[in-house]
Amino acid sequence: MAAGRLSFRNMTALAPMVRVGTLPMRLLALDYGADVVYCEELIDIKMAQCQRIVNDVLETVDFVAPDERVMFRTCEREKDRVIFQMGTADPERALKVAQLVEKDVAAIDVNMGCPKEYSTKGGMGAALLSDPDKIEDILKKLVKGVSVPVTCKIRILPSLEETVSLVQRIEKTGVTAVAVHGRFKDERPRHPVHCDYIQAVAQAVSIPVIANGGSLDLVKNNSDIEKFRKVTGASSVMLARAAMWNPSVFSSQGTLPVEKVMKEYIKYAIRYDNHAFNTKYCLCQMLRDKVESPLGRQVQAAQTNAEISEAYGLQKFYQEIQEQLQAKKDALHSSNQP
Ligand code: FNR
Repeated sequence: MAAGRLSFRNMTALAPMVRVGTLPMRLLALDYGADVVYCEELIDIKMAQCQRIVNDVLETVDFVAPDERVMFRTCEREKDRVIFQMGTADPERALKVAQLVEKDVAAIDVNMGCPKEYSTKGGMGAALLSDPDKIEDILKKLVKGVSVPVTCKIRILPSLEETVSLVQRIEKTGVTAVAVHGRFKDERPRHPVHCDYIQAVAQAVSIPVIANGGSLDLVKNNSDIEKFRKVTGASSVMLARAAMWNPSVFSSQGTLPVEKVMKEYIKYAIRYDNHAFNTKYCLCQMLRDKVESPLGRQVQAAQTNAEISEAYGLQKFYQEIQEQLQAKKDALHSSNQP
């Protein structure tokens, strides 16, 4: 896919996933062949308090909260590929956050599908689905106010007609694409995905539709991605769980053993100083039913990226990266001295 403004056609995407979609997972998904990668949903109120800080040691751009927590870390490598997903129910605040990050990301996405309480209680996520006027206000404001493409991700409504008419309304706001998770608001991930709803939407609008919801029963390996795209008639496909379990699902060369993938994941976690608890969480998702194996227990007991590295025999790599980062810090420090 050529760099430039994203078209959202013929692409595969790493879906937005809270805790999973941090920088190491996004870079790994890109390595394996994903065209675009969504960050985890970030809540507008928290993002609005962040400061944009260029991290010269890690070569990243960090959005740092007042308590010094890094809410969003990104880097040059993913600049044309990363989609910033936000949780919002407030057009003004959404715009403020979008303008804060737009220089560093490829597109802005609004979450309109999350049924979890932390998202819906403020009127965000799936709560927006029952407030189409608010949807319109937010999307129009964003489309007008930022220079990168704006998209949204929805769940389906109780009838085909309602779903189609909502997406037609969304299309009129000027968004570049819409991702459709083919499940109703109260359906769980184990329920079968409604490909017919995604198909009806894809036929009814001219903007690209990104099909989502196929992990588990439909998409198990790379060739299933195209089958899912065909059966939904969508332009593109977005994967969450299949990619969380093994991001090499994006590779057209075939899925790699997860043990190898986990090591590559850890290398990015070390290189980009990912929070150890986040590293552990993602590894546990990849370990799946092996989370109680001796390796799984070692991962669960680890408190630092150094301990995690040990569990995978990556101590030497860990040490080398620490030395490189320290040398960089020292060089930057001395060049800043008068
Ligand atoms: C999710 N999902 C999700 N959706 C979203 O819009 N923003 C988010 O931050 C999250 N977070 C999240 C975390 C985890 C761990 C999972 C498994 C899922 C939903 C996700 O993007 C997707 O819509 C569903 O998982 C269905 O797609 P799959 O899993 O069938 O490919």
